[in-house]
Amino acid sequence: MTKRTEVHPTETHCEMTWIVMPSQANSLGTVFGGQIMSWIDVCAAVACQRFARATVVTASMDNLIFRAPVRQGQVVVLRAAVNCAWNSSMEVGVRVESEDPHTGDRFHTSTAYLTFVALGKKGRKAKVPTLVPETPAEERRMADAQRRRARRLQARDEDRAARNPS
Ligand SMILES: CC(C)(COP(=O)(O)OP(=O)(O)OC[C@H]1O[C@@H](n2cnc3c(N)ncnc32)[C@H](O)[C@@H]1OP(=O)(O)O)[C@@H](O)C(=O)NCCC(=O)NCCS
Repeated sequence: MTKRTEVHPTETHCEMTWIVMPSQANSLGTVFGGQIMSWIDVCAAVACQRFARATVVTASMDNLIFRAPVRQGQVVVLRAAVNCAWNSSMEVGVRVESEDPHTGDRFHTSTAYLTFVALGKKGRKAKVPTLVPETPAEERRMADAQRRRARRLQARDEDRAARNPS
C-alpha cells in the first residue's frame, strides 16, 4: 500500500463503546480513573495509527480532569481524532461521555489531549503525513493544538533544565 502524504481529520476518527463491568469499578460502584485513562490511550492510539499508518507510542498525556463519575452498568463512549501533526509527533483529542442505557442521556465526563510519536521499522522516529483540516472546527482544533504543543515543549524543557542544572 502506498503511503498517503495528506490525511483529513475525519479519516482518523475512532469511536469506542464499553459497558462498565463490576471488575472495572471501585467500592463506590464507579469506574476507576486508571481504567478510563487506559481506554483513552487505546482510542487515541487507534486514531493516530489511522493517521500515520505506522507504529505509534504515547509520548505524553495532558492534565486529565474527571468531571463526573461513571457508574457500573453505564455505557462509556470515547471519540478520538487527530488535531494536529508536526514532524514525527501528533496531537490527538479524546472526548469521553457516559450514557445512561435506560434514557440515552449522555454526559461529558472528560476530554484528554495526548501526544503520540510515529516510529519506523527500526524503532526510530518516522515522518508523519500532513493533516489537512477541512472545516472551521477542524482549523480551530489545529490552532488550539499548536498552542498546547508550545506549552508542552516549554514544560518539558523546564523539567529537563531542573533535573540537569548546568
Ligand atoms: C516519545 C519518544 C519516542 C520521544 O523520543 P525523543 O528522543 O524524546 O524524541 P524528540 O525529543 O526528538 O521528540 C520527538 C517528537 O516528540 C515530541 N515530543 C517529545 N516529548 C514530548 C512531550 N513530552 N510532549 C509533547 N511532545 C513531545 C517532540 O516535539 C518531537 O516532535 P516532532 O518530531 O513532531 O517535532 C521517547 O521519549 C519514548 O520512546 N518514550 C517512551 C514511549 C512509551 O513507552 N510510551 C508508552 C507505551 S506506548
